Amino acid sequence: PDRYAVIGNPIAHSKSPAIHARFAAQTNQALTYERLLAPLDGFAATVHAFIDAGGKGANVTVPFKLEACALATSLTTRARAAGAVNTLKFDDSAIIGDNTDGVGLVTDIVRNAAVAIRGKRVLLLGAGGASRGVVLPLLAEDPAELVIANRTVSKAVELAAQFAANGSVRGGDFASLQGRFDIVINATSASLASEVPPISPEVFDGGSLAYDMMYGKAPTVFMQFAAQHGAAVRDGLGMLVEQAAEAFHVWRGVRPDTAAVFAELRAGL
Ligand code: ATR
Repeated sequence: PDRYAVIGNPIAHSKSPAIHARFAAQTNQALTYERLLAPLDGFAATVHAFIDAGGKGANVTVPFKLEACALATSLTTRARAAGAVNTLKFDDSAIIGDNTDGVGLVTDIVRNAAVAIRGKRVLLLGAGGASRGVVLPLLAEDPAELVIANRTVSKAVELAAQFAANGSVRGGDFASLQGRFDIVINATSASLASEVPPISPEVFDGGSLAYDMMYGKAPTVFMQFAAQHGAAVRDGLGMLVEQAAEAFHVWRGVRPDTAAVFAELRAGL
């Protein structure tokens, strides 16, 4: 069977091996998918050793997504836009870098949550790596407007400027956000500290979809805040499963059914 892996540090907690094993069983693909712990200074060596051992592809997670971008011999458009790589495909001597995170988010919102992005006002909170990775796929859905808000305003303004040619997008601070947004996406890491970005609850007026890229057994503090102000809430578990499905498609050319895998993961949290 062909070999695949997820590479990160730490890696023990990764759900990717379970997800891809389920996808492979569903689609009758003969493959193995393992966890690889790379030393913090040994990402490239770990990738090359895996290629030498017959590896066909890999997912890349914290903290190596930027290094994977640099290591790739070619990048897909969406990986170049993200400036980060979460999916590598090994083809003879080529290392193709891709990024499926943004498509994973968009698929989870549009198909699984059944909320269209086209024509909507969308608010993206945060301007770090998680945010950068989803801007182009969000703009590709043709929202009425994408506003990126960040604690460090300059990062939001710069990120928006980078994508000015791809749609209606602007950056700013939390305090000057005005009006309601149909979709509010939390791409900050504030939830890790049990903090909520200081946004006015009026952004949720009229029942927005509030989406947190983080997930866990309990709703995040951002989801609790949004729900208190009338929003429908969703965590990032669906994005996790959908980015994996997109990677699986990149490698194998077939699309697994994500609903059953999502339900299993949810039950196991
Ligand atoms: P990631 O790859 O998860 O995006 P990152 O690149 O370190 O990680 O970015 C973290 C993001 O969360 C940034 O937008 C950060 O804001 P700053 O750019 O101002 O640092 C944001 N963030 C982290 N903690 C936050 C908090 N407590 N409140 C609001 N924003 C926060």
